[in-house]
Amino acid sequence: MKFSEVVQQRRTVKSYQPGKEISDAELKELMQEVVLSPSSFNLQHWTFIAVKDAAIKEKIQQAAWNQEQIGTCSILLVVCGKVDAHQDAPEIYRDVPATVQDMVLPMIKNFYDGKHQLQRDEAIRSASLAAMTLMLAAHNRGWATAPMIGFDPEAVTKLVKLQSNYIPVMLMALGYKKKEPRPRDHRWPIEEVVKMNTLDGPGLTG
Ligand SMILES: Cc1cc2nc3c(=O)[nH]c(=O)nc-3n(C[C@H](O)[C@H](O)[C@H](O)COP(=O)(O)O)c2cc1C
Repeated sequence: MKFSEVVQQRRTVKSYQPGKEISDAELKELMQEVVLSPSSFNLQHWTFIAVKDAAIKEKIQQAAWNQEQIGTCSILLVVCGKVDAHQDAPEIYRDVPATVQDMVLPMIKNFYDGKHQLQRDEAIRSASLAAMTLMLAAHNRGWATAPMIGFDPEAVTKLVKLQSNYIPVMLMALGYKKKEPRPRDHRWPIEEVVKMNTLDGPGLTG
């Protein structure tokens, strides 16, 4: 599939064929593309909990406005962000030349240490970029997805046993589409969302 077709055709799908299996091997192939997503300093703040267990899925569904797609999708992914990912830098950079380590590691430490809001922002940024890759890569493989923020984060944290250095960034249904979603809703025209040079500049007209 052409990349522009993937982008244009991807939709949030809420109606899935229940009981359809996506194997661990298939999921692994998908995730091998997802982990190629960019992240600041290559810290890869993401972790994905792949929930297939029906009982856990049902409990998450209850903690997520009982959204239908959670019950019927093949795999529910809890897209998580690791807020202290900067502490992994020595391991991530262990194979680079010492000169690079000496430059980058103190830079990362200074940038993140003690800055809890920034650490959280970064975890959400990176996990969200990976989630976008996931949606596009899944569509390319013939699967449908639905990103979700409509859930109780404390309940989901407990259900999938996240430690305190992880936050649930979004839920992601993954499965086989049953019904087409309704036609796309409103999108702002480009000239309203792309401004030249400053926010009060002219809109892009092309
Ligand atoms: C971060 C995020 C959270 C979302 N949360 C929900 C949700 O909880 N439930 C839902 O049905 N859709 C959710 N959506 C899907 C949006 O409603 C959908 O992306 C938007 O209407 C545009 O439609 P499209 O994805 O089909 O282009 C979410 C999307 C994003 C990006």
